Amino acid sequence: MRTTVGIIGGGPAGLLLARLLHRAGVGCVVLEIRTREYVEHRQRAGMLEQGTVNALREAGAADRLNAEGLVHHGIELRFARERHRIDFPTLTGGRTVTIYAQTEIVKDLVALQLAEGPPLLFETRALAVEDAESERPVVRFVREGREETLSCDWVVGCDGFHGVAREAIPAAVSRTYAHDHPYAWLGILAEVPPSCEELIYARGERGFALHSMRSPSVSRLYLQVPVGTELEEWPDDRIWDELAARFAIDADWTLARGPVTSRSVTPMRSYVHEPMRHGRLLLAGDAAHIVPPTGAKGLNLAVSDVRILSRALTAWCSTGDTQLVDRYSELCLSRVWQATRFSYDMTKMLHAQPDGDAFDQRMQLARLRRITASRHAAAELAANYTGLPLPEWV
Ligand code: FAD
Ligand code: DHB
Repeated sequence: MRTTVGIIGGGPAGLLLARLLHRAGVGCVVLEIRTREYVEHRQRAGMLEQGTVNALREAGAADRLNAEGLVHHGIELRFARERHRIDFPTLTGGRTVTIYAQTEIVKDLVALQLAEGPPLLFETRALAVEDAESERPVVRFVREGREETLSCDWVVGCDGFHGVAREAIPAAVSRTYAHDHPYAWLGILAEVPPSCEELIYARGERGFALHSMRSPSVSRLYLQVPVGTELEEWPDDRIWDELAARFAIDADWTLARGPVTSRSVTPMRSYVHEPMRHGRLLLAGDAAHIVPPTGAKGLNLAVSDVRILSRALTAWCSTGDTQLVDRYSELCLSRVWQATRFSYDMTKMLHAQPDGDAFDQRMQLARLRRITASRHAAAELAANYTGLPLPEWV
């Protein structure tokens, strides 16, 4: 098989890149190891920056997002049994965020791609990227038990943190930066209307908790738990009791409970691979970098990578101009490091540190008090949360 851009991975990064390239008239093929059913039901992100919403609109993939997405104008910070609202539009010159699940973005993009192209091959495992340093890189893959090759002008690794594309970059040119946070998140989906209108980030001695949502009738909640936590240790009553204790404030507020329909435990890691390009192989999204979920940056970063990349590959395809593709890694990494810093700071500020002491707790509270007392500090949080700007030409 032969194409212009071979894309490994049909998650949000791979699917959106394929859509953007297709609309710009650039040929591509997406290889996805899982079934359609699996990728459409993998519970993950839900908070979209305005730039992410705009990108989906520009890709002609936002009909349902426009109708069903929940526009939020702020978040609530809870600590010391108090609640404090951060208002995004007044602090950022009008910016908002939107709640719309990653599962729904994937469903929308898969449906469009199967209807309009380009080829999207499920149950197709990429084995390796070869000849990345040549002008004809190749993806070796297995489909229906047969090994085949996809010959390309460019290969893009959108295959997530555990993918194979990154392995094709020689160790001699790779630099990796990683930090494992000493806790995990237990996430649930519950059939119950959210107990809040906006997301609640709660810090307390018992640990962090986050109240998010998927729709007016479905809540999404997260609890900080120790690394190595097994789901069997957390029957539903224990989860709800712990959430209620962590969200408790000195005011009239109760957490509504309902049937839990999905549970998972997620480790918390910061990781950046440099560079994001080697020869004709480019990395995008979780294949190149991951952040702890506090601050909701992972999916948004994946989208900003592919927005930059689609411009760069379209320019190369139409005029042979390599200026943008040559700067791809540098353009993405400056934003990636800012999101890595923000996610790290939010994580440190809001989670109970297993080896922390009373001094660390006071530092967390001092940071939170500063954000809620100073418009300047709150504006800095709001600017990062709603998304730092991309270059104008994107
Ligand atoms: P992925 O979604 O991991 O997609 C990679 C794809 O490649 C997968 O479909 C995989 O099956 C496929 N693949 C892997 N290996 C191969 C192979 N060898 N051959 C073919 N295909 C392969 N981010 C936010 O922005 N906001 C949030 O609110 C948020 N909340 C989160 C909550 C949780 C609990 C978690 C776990 C993550 C959250 N994130 C959030 C992060 C976000 O989900 C990820 O950053 C996002 O999925 C990255 O998209 P991606 O396409 O780069 O990678
Ligand atoms: C969600 C996840 C996050 O990590 C976050 O910071 C906000 C929202 C969510 O899944 O809705």
